[in-house]
This record gives sequence, C-alpha cells and structure tokens, in this order.
Amino acid sequence: MKIGFFDSGLGGITVLSEALRRLPNESFVYMADTLHAPYGTKTPQEVCGYVKTLVQTILKEEVKALVIACNTATSIAVAELRREYSIPIIGMEPAVKPAVEMNRANGKRVLVLATSLTLKQSGYAALVSRVDDHGSVDSLPLPELVQYCEQLNFDRTELFEYFNRKLSSFDLDIYGTVVLGCTHYPFYKEILKELLPSHIQLIDGSQGTVRRLKQVLSERNLLASPVKAGQSQEGHVTFLCSSQDEAYVHKMERALEIYTEHEKIYL
Ligand code: DGL
Repeated sequence: MKIGFFDSGLGGITVLSEALRRLPNESFVYMADTLHAPYGTKTPQEVCGYVKTLVQTILKEEVKALVIACNTATSIAVAELRREYSIPIIGMEPAVKPAVEMNRANGKRVLVLATSLTLKQSGYAALVSRVDDHGSVDSLPLPELVQYCEQLNFDRTELFEYFNRKLSSFDLDIYGTVVLGCTHYPFYKEILKELLPSHIQLIDGSQGTVRRLKQVLSERNLLASPVKAGQSQEGHVTFLCSSQDEAYVHKMERALEIYTEHEKIYL
C-alpha cells in the first residue's frame, strides 16, 4: 500500500522529497489540487470543501497513511479529516516551537513566513501563545511566492527584488530564525540563505513531519519491508492532479528533480 501526500500544488513536494530519502522502501501517491490552487487566498470553508473532495480521490488509491503536505490545509481541515477517516493522518504546522527554542538563549526574534490563511487561523494563534512565552514571534504572508513556485520561476534578480521589497520593513539583525511555514517556500531556501544576514537560520516542517510519519507507521506495523537487492523501488511516486492535466504531472516530476538537486547542497 502507498502513502498518500497532498497539497494545493507543488509545495508538498518539499516534504515528499524528505520522505523519499527517509523511507526508501515505500511507494507514494502525490496529489495536487490544481483545480483550486492556491489555497492561501481562499476562505476556510472553501479550502475545507476542496480538501475533503481531494482526499476522497486520493483514498481511491490504496493508501495506508495520509500526509497533509500543506500547512494551510492542515490548519483548516485536519481535525475534520481525522474524525472522518481511521487511517493515520499526519498534518503540518509552522515550526514555531523549535524556532523559539533555538533562540531562547540569544534573545533573537523569530519570523514566520506562511500563507495569510494559515496565519489567520486560531490554531496558529494558539500555537504561538503556547510556545512563545515572551512575545518574540512575528509573521509575514508571502502569497506571490506560491505563484513563483507554481511557475517554477527561480529568476534570481526577480526573486531578490521580491524578497527585498517584502522584507524591507523588518530589521533582520534582530531575528535569529526564519520559519518557512508554507511548503512551497523551501524551494527558495537557497535564495533566502544568500539574501538574509548569515546569522539567520532557516527552518521548515518537513523533517519533523516525516519523522512523525515514520513513527506512526512503525507503531502500527505499517512500514514497508526492505526491497530485495536489485529491485530498487526508490523514488517510486505516482503523481496525480485534480485537473487531470498531463503537463502538470510532468511539472511535478520536474519540481521533484529540482528540489532533490537543491537539497543535496544542504546534506
Ligand atoms: N503549500 C501550502 C502551505 O503549506 C499552501 C499554498 C497555497 O496554496 O496558498 O500552506
């Protein structure tokens, strides 16, 4: 059986890439909601409806666990999905807790980048108030970055200009960590590393999510057994999208290649 992943578009591929590395014996089905992307600019009711329809389609594939590789969809729909389905459902939330802990000793602030819908949810406010006991977390939505990513636009000049404009009102010296709280954003890690002061660390939720996925699969005895020598299954992914668009399926394959190459720099 496969592990299901979904996002509004290409963003969840940043999480899938981590899962492929950490769970090389597994097969995956990744679905993008191309009919409704982006989610971050829609209403909670709309996103909840889109997610429920998408999940019904993914579950037609034989899926043993589901990863909501999208912070926005998690914040809106995870509770409802867990009520409806009995398979393990792993969600994502911005990595605010580790970011606050990283800066406890140095007194630096944390900047959370995420969609405006994620940042507006009561779940986000609750997360921050739970982990941030001295008001050190700020946030900034970057809706255009989702569009850049969907176009696989990595034009350095354009992106430097974009980030500089968005960050112009922030005194970056006072920040110790930037949280990438939308799964599309890690595609721009490299550019952000170059652009931000060198003391700033970047953190995203993909490692924690895949660690949790592995733990849940192991607890329920659902981990795939190692593939036999000579029949490597590594990288076995079926890509689907709600608009059933062949060109977008190729785009997802290309995005996975780009991101996997990109990640090698950090290993
Ligand atoms: N990748 C998604 C997230 O993690 C949402 C992007 C969007 O569709 O606006 O929040």
